[in-house]
Amino acid sequence: MNFAIKKHDLIVILTGAGISAESGLSTFRDNNGLWETYNVNEVATPEGFKKNPSLVWKFYNKRRQQLKNVKPNNAHKTITYFQKYFHNTHIITQNVDNLHEKAGNKNTIHMHGTLERIICTHCNYSRNDLDKISEIPICPECKNYLRPDIVWFGEIPYYLEAIEKLLKESVLFIGIGTSGTVYPAAEFINIAKQFNAKTIFINKESVNNHSIDYFYQGEAGSLLEEVFNEIINMCKN
Ligand code: APR
Repeated sequence: MNFAIKKHDLIVILTGAGISAESGLSTFRDNNGLWETYNVNEVATPEGFKKNPSLVWKFYNKRRQQLKNVKPNNAHKTITYFQKYFHNTHIITQNVDNLHEKAGNKNTIHMHGTLERIICTHCNYSRNDLDKISEIPICPECKNYLRPDIVWFGEIPYYLEAIEKLLKESVLFIGIGTSGTVYPAAEFINIAKQFNAKTIFINKESVNNHSIDYFYQGEAGSLLEEVFNEIINMCKN
């Protein structure tokens, strides 16, 4: 790698399911990924929830229970180390787990929601909740069904305005562990590149995107340290 970077430059890290894979959480599109075992239309769309809310809750309960025991891996920890040096580093994650937070990562935006929250399907009620739920939970305020605070297919991701601002102002964009197949996240790298950011991508399988300047193929848990140290060494303040 060879580019200019300063300690206070704005850096955006986009993460996907691949960064949590080494913690034992399944990705979506790898072999044995979640979308091979479950029908995405049944468990991750508003229509699926309307049709069979208990099936959807069963799917998310399993994920919610996993969160209690799962630990951040070396990739999450290396981001904490990197942010100590580059304070102006922001994480945009498509993940609904809490591993960035558990690792002490700062400035994390959960654009696809979070398993830690449940929300009402009708009113503004919401609460943090990771307790086991056996029946479909009911809103204490309006008595309609509660649902996981997850952005499903066909819904608009959270914080898009703030994300666009970060992408346009970023000097460096780093994608980690995402197949780059789900929009709008898939085009964040193109926006950053268009606004002159250098771009790095770290992924287990190859990713074809003309906006990638530097691609590192392998597992984030071992590769990130090497890549981040190289960036730190290039920083002239
Ligand atoms: N290190 C780096 N990359 C990895 C690792 C690893 N240890 N393990 C797997 N990967 C890569 C895979 O090769 C794959 O390209 O992570 C990528 C994960 O891709 P997806 O399963 O498609 O997950 P993601 O890109 O996060 O999916 C986006 O799709 O269904 C939705 O809402 C869901 O947020 C999710 C969105």
